[in-house]
Amino acid sequence: MERKELIYTGKAKKMYATDQETVLLAEYLNQVTSLNGAKKETVEGKGELNNQITGLIFNYLAGKGIASHYIQEVSKTEQLIKRVEMIPLEVVVRNTSAGSFAKRFGMEEGIDLPFPILEFYYKKDELDDPFINDAHVKMLNVATDEEVRAIKKQALEINAALVEMFKKSAIRLIDFKIEFGKTADGEIVLADEISPDTCRLWDMTTKEHLDKDIYRRDLGDIIPVYVEVLERLKNI
Ligand code: TMP
Repeated sequence: MERKELIYTGKAKKMYATDQETVLLAEYLNQVTSLNGAKKETVEGKGELNNQITGLIFNYLAGKGIASHYIQEVSKTEQLIKRVEMIPLEVVVRNTSAGSFAKRFGMEEGIDLPFPILEFYYKKDELDDPFINDAHVKMLNVATDEEVRAIKKQALEINAALVEMFKKSAIRLIDFKIEFGKTADGEIVLADEISPDTCRLWDMTTKEHLDKDIYRRDLGDIIPVYVEVLERLKNI
């Protein structure tokens, strides 16, 4: 598969066309950002860790019958993915209070929620990705009611599978963000990445942060922590 022209540059990935119309190549970058890109830094080795972690997770999900855009890893920092039309929604699923949720409700972090809570954010950098509800999704023509139902169902199934996967690695899945895309035949599939950049992961016993909160909160170096996540996931 040949890498062709660059078609998109994001905060953590670049997307290239390939010699196959329906296939793209995603290159995972070493850039780490927070505050919607206001804080950023290059951290050597991050791209290959997230490429590998995402690959392991998408393969695990495939084994559970959950489809995604992932095809295969082609180098340390690159993976092939199916070309989909991205839906401009950040879908967050929360199992435990943390981050913006804890702040919004004046809750301590680390309180288990009675059921997984799903939230939508409208993916628009210039608006700072605002928190929106189903009516807003419909009004903005982001997705139809039927698509919203499919997204919610899949997000909760993905959560159940991820909770189980991380539990096998003695990791507690606090919350995560995923995105979905639409295939040429209208199927909604999980797209983008699932990594310590996009999940909150706590060590099950020590509650140590094993995710990008290390960077967001200036708690130290992310690389040893991401290596730890990769090694634990490899061993399940
Ligand atoms: P939050 O508590 O800041 O709303 O974040 C919830 C989860 O979503 C957390 O695991 C981090 C992830 N996330 C992203 O991956 N990208 C984002 O832009 C935001 C705001 C959160």
